[in-house]
Amino acid sequence: MNLPSIWRRLRIRTKIILPFVLLFSVIIFGMLALTIFLFDRKYDQQFSAETQQWLETIQHTQYIEEPEKVKQAYHCEVIVFGGDDTLNGSTLVDLPDPEWSALGKYFALSQVRTKLSQQNTPVIGNVRLAGRPYKVVYAKQSLNRIYCLMRPMGRVAQAKRQTLQITAVIAFIGLLLVVLISTLIGRNLTRPIDQLVQFTHRVASGDLEHQCDLIGIDEVGQLTAAFNQMTQDLRRSRKERLQVERLTTAGQLSAAFAHEIRNPLSSIKMLTQMMVGKMAESTAKQSLTRVLDEIERIEVIVSGLMNFARPTELNRINANLNAIAESVLKLMEVNLKHHQISIVTHFDASLAHIQVDTDKMKQILMNLILNAIQSMPEGGELTITTQGFSDQIRLQVEDTGIGIPVETIDRIFDPFFTTKPTGTGLGLPTSRRLVEQHQGLIVVDSVEGQGTTVIVELPRHSNNNSG
Ligand SMILES: Nc1ncnc2c1ncn2[C@@H]1O[C@H](COP(=O)(O)OP(=O)(O)OP(=O)(O)O)[C@@H](O)[C@H]1O
Ligand SMILES: [Mg+2]
Repeated sequence: MNLPSIWRRLRIRTKIILPFVLLFSVIIFGMLALTIFLFDRKYDQQFSAETQQWLETIQHTQYIEEPEKVKQAYHCEVIVFGGDDTLNGSTLVDLPDPEWSALGKYFALSQVRTKLSQQNTPVIGNVRLAGRPYKVVYAKQSLNRIYCLMRPMGRVAQAKRQTLQITAVIAFIGLLLVVLISTLIGRNLTRPIDQLVQFTHRVASGDLEHQCDLIGIDEVGQLTAAFNQMTQDLRRSRKERLQVERLTTAGQLSAAFAHEIRNPLSSIKMLTQMMVGKMAESTAKQSLTRVLDEIERIEVIVSGLMNFARPTELNRINANLNAIAESVLKLMEVNLKHHQISIVTHFDASLAHIQVDTDKMKQILMNLILNAIQSMPEGGELTITTQGFSDQIRLQVEDTGIGIPVETIDRIFDPFFTTKPTGTGLGLPTSRRLVEQHQGLIVVDSVEGQGTTVIVELPRHSNNNSG
């Protein structure tokens, strides 16, 4: 697996955290190395200069001949080599034998002599004896002797170690903080994405009932909103598809049922009518007359079924919705008055003509007004409103009746759903089908105990071929 493919496999959170951590590691450890290097150089320079100064002071006093006093006063060791590199004197006491015999090698005396002959100032170097580091300042003495002042560097090494430890601890804490902060930032950034991913899994498994919580209005927020909108549309279209399927099944059933029932029913009706015509006034005739009434009721139901099931062709003409509403109201005036319902109209006088099937429009309006009448058994007010907009025309039928309970409002467009003893439950489904054939929309808004408003919206420019 190469680097790009590993990178592609990483989670977004890791992709955010990793560059941060790497960058800060390089910065922090780079700074650590630089600090130690600078500290080392500075300290070494200072240490060398100081030791050199001591040697100069020693050279100008009689201490130069008394190494033990130098050792006491400066806590430094002294070694003096003769002109033939043999040991002339030393303050060192606990040096192991192999180092004693090879002291000249440790001090690289031939190089020191060359340097001393080239310069007037003392030569400075480092020596490690018996595991202890020393800063050594060499000076030339009479008879080609070399005087070595050795200052132990144990304290410097300790200070260096301490600095290293402190800076390492600081670097580690810094790195830890970087990891922590970048993890928090990463989590904060990826939380909405994780949530959205979970949500998409739920949607993919068919759960369209929920919405994803919106966190912020950034790009992820916008994506979530778009996804919520998509889920909502999907839910609506699924509901509509179910509705259409149900309507189609109901339509097919109704057509078959109505077709089978219509012919025997007309025969029964004809025969009953003949019998009633021939019979003298009697209780039997009264009963038969009641049978005839019931047959007529069945006929209404059957024709309702036929209406619902039959695929209707729209016969569109240029018409004004105000005129259609007025003619229907006129037709139903007596009925409305009989039920003590007052009529209020708000007709938009500037309403444009639109292409509609006037008979179908009347049928829709009659269905809606009949429902309104049936919802106001004690009387009430019926308000018909028309409104024109740039792209559509709105027709509104409002009553002050019993209203529709929230539990049933979702079912009122289902075929055969009725709450009335003599209803067929086909008024609203038929109306919806006709409105949709006009590429319109029908919605119902109702408050139980207060009344119902049905709104029909028709496009001003619709496709004439539908139906
Ligand atoms: N204006 C309204 N007020 C109260 N309830 C209504 C109203 N319109 C419709 N409904 C409810 O919706 C149901 C379905 O109405 P729909 O017109 O489809 O059938 P129906 O009126 O029961 O029977 P049909 O219209 O076939 O005689 C009604 O039974 C009623 O419960
Ligand atoms: Mg009805």
